[in-house]
Amino acid sequence: MSAQILDGKLLAAQLKTALTQEIKRLRESVQEAPRIFSIVVGNDPASLSYAASQQKTAQGVGIQYELRNFNAESTTQDDVLNLIGELNSYDHVHGIIVNKPLPAQMNFKAIINAITPYKDIEGMNLMNFGRLLMGEEGIFPCTPSAALELLKSSGVPLKGKHAIVIGRSEIVGKPVALLLLREDMTVTVCHSKTIDLPFVVHDADVVIAALGRPGFVKGEWIRQGAIVVDVGINQVEGKLVGDVDFASAVQKASHITPVPGGVGPVTAVMLMNNAVKAFKILNRI
Ligand SMILES: NC(=O)c1ccc[n+]([C@@H]2O[C@H](COP(=O)([O-])OP(=O)(O)OC[C@H]3O[C@@H](n4cnc5c(N)ncnc54)[C@H](OP(=O)(O)O)[C@@H]3O)[C@@H](O)[C@H]2O)c1
Repeated sequence: MSAQILDGKLLAAQLKTALTQEIKRLRESVQEAPRIFSIVVGNDPASLSYAASQQKTAQGVGIQYELRNFNAESTTQDDVLNLIGELNSYDHVHGIIVNKPLPAQMNFKAIINAITPYKDIEGMNLMNFGRLLMGEEGIFPCTPSAALELLKSSGVPLKGKHAIVIGRSEIVGKPVALLLLREDMTVTVCHSKTIDLPFVVHDADVVIAALGRPGFVKGEWIRQGAIVVDVGINQVEGKLVGDVDFASAVQKASHITPVPGGVGPVTAVMLMNNAVKAFKILNRI
């Protein structure tokens, strides 16, 4: 039996349509559109291309977008912090993004934590992480939120089911585990020191793979009928592949996300979703 594909492109398109309509309604009620500000330091091609795709997605749904591209040689951490201070104080800026990589002399955590929590649309600062941990409302990281949206799009009830998260990074593994706990799932988090990963994975109703190892999770590890969300993005011989061995996993899973075309496209929309959330909080809507 072959799994049903959880199509990220299709879900992203549906979410964008809903967001566009919501932004239109907000614009009519408060005479203002959400505006986000993105910071790139240096000219890393992946970072600049990510910023260009943020701009396209933002403008596509009616969010205003501004980019500041600092010169890496002549910019200090204080220059970036000063800009964030200014952006924090502007009522017309609702979201701030700091793109990685930053130059080695800059501390990403210090910079991200300088963003006022309501404008932290990547959901990366300590206050938002704390809110996620404490079960409170907040702005949560985009990739984990995308993984959850895709999981929910399967239509399969999640409550009480066993989710195995492979990976414990601050960007994906930990926040996705916390989001799944909020859905009343039973969550196990695995990492590089986990003993007998295939055995642990075999107990899962849901597998979230976020370890950054191409094709690592094999179909034979997966229980028949489990749902598999592959967060991995790896370049192998010029092609994008996930952390799951898709060809074998598709034979065992009931639902599976592809790479590319799974979590990635939904992540881009989650950033805009967070911008709208921030806009509503800042406008007390
Ligand atoms: N789709 C998207 O929008 C999106 C966004 C962000 C990241 N990603 C992708 O998601 C993947 C994970 O990213 P990340 O930033 O979380 O990576 P990361 O910071 O490198 O963390 C990888 C995690 O996987 C664990 N791990 C590594 N090898 C393992 C193994 N053999 N068995 C079990 N666990 C293992 C590590 O364990 P330890 O903690 O013990 O080292 C670590 O917790 C990457 O492929 C990345 O490209 C996708």
